[in-house]
Amino acid sequence: MTLSPKDRDAWLTRWREGRTGFHLDRVNPFLERNADRMLPAGGGRVLVPLCGKSLDLRWLVARGHDVVGVELAEQAVEELYRDLGRTASISERGAFRSWKSDRLEILVGDIFELDSAATGAFHGIWDRAALIALRPDDRARYAPHILDFLCPGGQMLLCTIDYDQSKMDGPPFSVPACEVNAYFDNVLPLEKLEEKDVTDGNPRFGESGLSRVLEELWLVG
Ligand SMILES: C[S@@+](CC[C@H](N)C(=O)[O-])C[C@H]1O[C@@H](n2cnc3c(N)ncnc32)[C@H](O)[C@@H]1O
Repeated sequence: MTLSPKDRDAWLTRWREGRTGFHLDRVNPFLERNADRMLPAGGGRVLVPLCGKSLDLRWLVARGHDVVGVELAEQAVEELYRDLGRTASISERGAFRSWKSDRLEILVGDIFELDSAATGAFHGIWDRAALIALRPDDRARYAPHILDFLCPGGQMLLCTIDYDQSKMDGPPFSVPACEVNAYFDNVLPLEKLEEKDVTDGNPRFGESGLSRVLEELWLVG
C-alpha cells in the first residue's frame, strides 16, 4: 500500500511552497559523530529513505560510500542536484525515476513501493526525519519494510523525536523510546547512542506549549 494521496499531496505542496524547515544547512551532527558506528569509512552501500535534499547525502558519498536516496518530491531532487552543481542521468526504474551521478542515486517515488529485490541489500541505513515523518499506521509498516533492505550484519542509524503529542500535531511525529523498542528491539540489537534537548530548536515547539522535546539517536543492528 502506498502513502495516502492526501499525505503525498501535502509533501509535494510543502516543497512547492518552500515549507521545508526540516532541511538542515549543514551535515547532521548525529551522523558526523556516529557514522562509523553504522559502517566504517571506505565503502559500503547506504540507503537514505525520505532523503529530501539533505547535505548528508553528499557527505556520505565523500566518505566513499555508494548512496541511494528515496524521495517523493522530484523538486527536492532537482534542487539537490542544482546545489551539487552536478548533472544527473535520469532513467525510469519501475515505479521510480532514477537520478544518478557517480556514487549517488536518488529514486523519486514512494518508499512503500520500493522492493529490496530490485535495489539489492544495504550495509547501512541513515534514517533522519523519515520514520518520524510518517503517521502511526504508516510507521508500523515502514519499520519492518525498511529493515528488509539491510544486509545481514548491516546497521541502521535512526534519529527520532520525543514530545507530548497531545500538544502538537506532526510531522514531525513523536516516536518515544517505547515505540522504537516495539519496532526494533525484538528484531535486532538496539542501542541508544545519544540524546539532545531540542526544545529551543524550532519556534513551533514553544508556540505549542511544549516544555521538553528530545531528539534521540539509535543504532539498530
Ligand atoms: C521531514 S523530511 C526529511 C528529509 C531529510 N531526511 C532531511 O533530513 O532533510 C521528509 C521527506 O520525505 C519525503 N517523503 C514523505 N513520504 C515519503 C514516502 N512515502 N516516500 C518517499 N519520500 C517521502 C518528503 O517529501 C520529505 O522530503
